[in-house]
Amino acid sequence: AKRIGILTSGGDCPGLNAVIRGVAKAAYELMDDVEIIGIQDGYRGLIHGEYRVMKQSDFSGILTLGGTILGTSRQPFKQMRVIGEDNIDKVKNMKENYQKMKLDCLLILGGNGTHKTAALLAEEGLNVIGLPKTIDNDLYGTDVTFGFHSALNIATEALDLLHTTAASHGRVMVVELMGNKTGWLTLHAGIAGGADIILLPELPYDPKKVAAAVKRRAESGKAFSIIAVAEGAMTMDEAKLKRKERLRQRTEQGFHTVSEQIAAYVESHTGCETRVVVPGHLQRGGAPSAYDRVLSTRFGAYAARLIQAKKFGVTVALKGNVVTENKLSDIAGKAKLVPKDDQMVQVAKDMGISFGD
Ligand code: F6P
Repeated sequence: AKRIGILTSGGDCPGLNAVIRGVAKAAYELMDDVEIIGIQDGYRGLIHGEYRVMKQSDFSGILTLGGTILGTSRQPFKQMRVIGEDNIDKVKNMKENYQKMKLDCLLILGGNGTHKTAALLAEEGLNVIGLPKTIDNDLYGTDVTFGFHSALNIATEALDLLHTTAASHGRVMVVELMGNKTGWLTLHAGIAGGADIILLPELPYDPKKVAAAVKRRAESGKAFSIIAVAEGAMTMDEAKLKRKERLRQRTEQGFHTVSEQIAAYVESHTGCETRVVVPGHLQRGGAPSAYDRVLSTRFGAYAARLIQAKKFGVTVALKGNVVTENKLSDIAGKAKLVPKDDQMVQVAKDMGISFGD
């Protein structure tokens, strides 16, 4: 039999199950005698040998299901250090379990951290195929990751919902969106949700300019403003500091998040009543959007083709509107940031949206 291992690693997102289903259905269709092994909770399951042989019926009814039926773990190496399992040779264990499971290949669904480990396992001789997952859209070498569009829909809806209450009260709403160190989600949601100010990690801001933009709107008769801020955003002064130092300074000033910091500044410098909203993990919840169902299915089916062609050491990617692959060694350890001259940034600026820069 052809034994295909699958694991999902890192933060979950809508579309993981749609990819798993895509791989499975296409693999059963394209090849004879396929057996799919579901590894539990990402790399943690691979290290500890926790897995189950999947049945065809396991892949039914999961296209629309959020999260991951295989479970996931975040930074398993770090967590193992915390719980005192740092004596375990993780790479050795993963290789041994791969052999024990008699795998012909291993599909690894995850983001940047996950791909680094996937590249390492490929170097160690395992037949690995990556699949680009994250709501942050920050994976190098692919135009889009699955999960991004579903999160974008949720973030956009949050901005829509806040518009009516902001307008009724004449308030400033500071909405903090996910995205880790990048601003993809905030940039796109900000445009889709009609934000007035968009703050991204890639374009450090001047708080004075943010306050001035709010004031300008108030003076033109618009008493409310919506500020979409990426969780990783920073002021121009903060940008000169290392991340750790930046966060330490912020905590010292009594703020937990960048959104609290901006809200305090804007309120004290404009006199406008300000509220903070953090949609948080709601952005990773629920069913994949239609876009993500299509993308995930395409990615999954493409991965099955790669298995059939015995093409390993690669990760699936979308370039233009074509599904293709990159070598893991070419993309691992790199991140995809919003370029300062991204066309979407220019579009937003042309629409009068302020970036506080
Ligand atoms: O990478 C996805 C993401 O949701 C980021 O946007 C966010 O910074 C992080 O994960 C949150 O991590 P956790 O799920 O561990 O709280």
